[in-house]
Amino acid sequence: MHSIKFLHQDIHDEGSLKNMVSELLSQMGLDEKIGQMSQLCGSGGWIPDHLADAIRAGRVGSVLNEVDLDTVNELQRLAVEESRLGIPLLNGRDVIHGFKTILPIPLGQAASWDPTIISEGARISAVEAASAGVNWTFAPMIDITRDPRWGRIAESLGEDPYLCSVLGSAMIKGFQGADLDENGSIAACAKHFAGYGAAEGGRDYNTANIPENEMRNVHLRPFKAAVDADAATFMSAFCDLNGVPASGNSWLMDQILRQEWEYDGFVVSDWESIVEMTVHGFTGDDEQAALEAVNAGIDMEMASSTYRDHLENLVAAGKVDLKQIDKMVSRILELKFKLGLFRDPYTNPENYPELLNESHLQIAKEAAVKSCVLLQNKNRVLPLKKTALNSVALIGPLADDGYEQMGTWVFDGDEANSISCLSAIKELAGSELEINYAKGIESTRYKDQDGFAEAVQAAEKSDTVIMVLGEESFMSGEAHSRANIDLPGQQEELINAIATTGKPIVLVVLAGRPLTLDKVVDKVDAILYAWHPGTMGGPAIADLIFGVESPSGKLPVTFPKAVGQIPIYYATKNTGRPPSDESCIQMDDVPARAPQTSLGMASFHLDAGYKPLFPFGHGLSYGEFHYVKITTSRSHIALGESIDIAVDLINTGERQAEEVVQLYVRDLVGNVTRPIKELKGFKRIKLNPGQRERVSFSLHTDDLAFYDRNMQLITEPGQFHVWIGGNSEAPLWAEFEVHE
Ligand code: BGC
Repeated sequence: MHSIKFLHQDIHDEGSLKNMVSELLSQMGLDEKIGQMSQLCGSGGWIPDHLADAIRAGRVGSVLNEVDLDTVNELQRLAVEESRLGIPLLNGRDVIHGFKTILPIPLGQAASWDPTIISEGARISAVEAASAGVNWTFAPMIDITRDPRWGRIAESLGEDPYLCSVLGSAMIKGFQGADLDENGSIAACAKHFAGYGAAEGGRDYNTANIPENEMRNVHLRPFKAAVDADAATFMSAFCDLNGVPASGNSWLMDQILRQEWEYDGFVVSDWESIVEMTVHGFTGDDEQAALEAVNAGIDMEMASSTYRDHLENLVAAGKVDLKQIDKMVSRILELKFKLGLFRDPYTNPENYPELLNESHLQIAKEAAVKSCVLLQNKNRVLPLKKTALNSVALIGPLADDGYEQMGTWVFDGDEANSISCLSAIKELAGSELEINYAKGIESTRYKDQDGFAEAVQAAEKSDTVIMVLGEESFMSGEAHSRANIDLPGQQEELINAIATTGKPIVLVVLAGRPLTLDKVVDKVDAILYAWHPGTMGGPAIADLIFGVESPSGKLPVTFPKAVGQIPIYYATKNTGRPPSDESCIQMDDVPARAPQTSLGMASFHLDAGYKPLFPFGHGLSYGEFHYVKITTSRSHIALGESIDIAVDLINTGERQAEEVVQLYVRDLVGNVTRPIKELKGFKRIKLNPGQRERVSFSLHTDDLAFYDRNMQLITEPGQFHVWIGGNSEAPLWAEFEVHE
């Protein structure tokens, strides 16, 4: 038993850490080393014999999906006291957006554009999970995705590499704290490395074909940021990338991750993704799969057992170098030391604050408030004024459903702890207003209209209608992609029915992705997009609707009008024939038997144009923000210098509100074509009514760097345009030049 021996060693001293690891390694047999590289699934509250035996034999380095505390402590006891070398276990769990206190889904959190609240949210998730013996989460997911059909967009931080890098890093810091050894810190896992978000057709697990230049300029950037944020681990993706499955992809795992980025954490495969390389048709059998994975650089195998079954033979046959195994095991052991597991492998819940405590709930509520995006607000129907109303109707299958509002990837949350819109609105306004609740339809997918009459009646006898519609939680997340992303079931029809009453309609959407709302935007007055907002979704939405809070979320992903526009994202290329309002003809304006014409020779869809329904970065508030007087500190800068770009932000509205001010840049001429806009900075600014503030960003020429056609990271001299505004289509711009 080695735990005692390492008790007094300094895990913060790089030298002594390396010594401890190599001392331990020197005592390990090959079977024990392979054991450290193997992760087995727990059974949820009990320990099957095969698992206990494997742990005793030193054949398990990690378990996942065990959160019953007594069981976790017993698993650790078996490892520490009954295995020859007493090496504690890593215990992994998908704590994706909360443990018991459920935060908004990650895509919702990303809509906050607020690294501070994201970090705080990750921290409380870590603390709660750690109290159940979890020491490793498989988050954040930082796959760039530009396809809302893909169910896993819910778990992502959206379409933009810069936003995703900043927010993903904030999440990592929250999970890992200032020190992994600190009480409540758990190891993070940057996933899924890499390219998974580009699954063809938005169909999960599908192949991804991404040119190297796009990999480097878009998909890899958040992962590089995760390395810089000290993410303890990485996870390989399920997909094959340009023909090579990520779990056997040495370009990704070795050349990029180890050689170029000098990453020293470890890489775990995704669930059975090593054996699945044979299903991909990349390897012939499990042994070959193990060989490809280990030689590519997958340090730990999740769930399947190709390492345990084949690595010893592969080493004996000289196909796998023992030195490679030693390096991999060292990385795993190093994390165990850094987490303080050798000093204390057990979890004592008394060392942790209560689950779902008041401060955790407040953080979850703040995250939900900041995540909601006010997409439209015709006639300023929101916020509702209690004093000006007698009654409101609350309609929809998601208005009172604590389960569905938690969203995808919730293993440990409990609907009993969720506060729904109905409860929260009653609590906030029930004593002053009559609340007429009608579900309208049983579920978001329900096919009948038998509840419509009751819902219309509720609307008729109320001054204003709030409809809470959207998707159930199972409609997004892993393996839950959709080909049509309209409001499912009879929900559009329900809106139509309610619209006939002529009452003002506030539509609240709970969903795991952008939905195509083109057919409903004109039928409703306000749209508050709340994603799946988690435990405190109801109180957050109630506060926003009644103006206790002002909305401040901004879209982290473009909202298409129609599925056929996908992929649609703001950082698109210009093409040789860019569309414009003039060039974009509409199908309905073209006469029958139209002749061949050169009209509209531009890049657009005849039936959908070229614009999204709502652009990236869009989001309204109860303030009225205006941007004026954009200036640059200089007109020319040399490579290596910085420039300041500033704007005056004015709130001419009648109440205090927060605005996310966004900075975009375009590099006009590049060695490879450059996006028409790229986000380079953002700031949350709170202004009182009538207040004016100068908001300034500093941009270094390194911030303008991109990978050129030779895959070199360069900043090219030349002309740049720069915009500051409240979304990616904001018009206020300036220019500057970069010279040698
Ligand atoms: C998912 C991962 C997850 C893992 C462990 C896989 O199916 O792709 O994101 O972390 O399971 O649950």
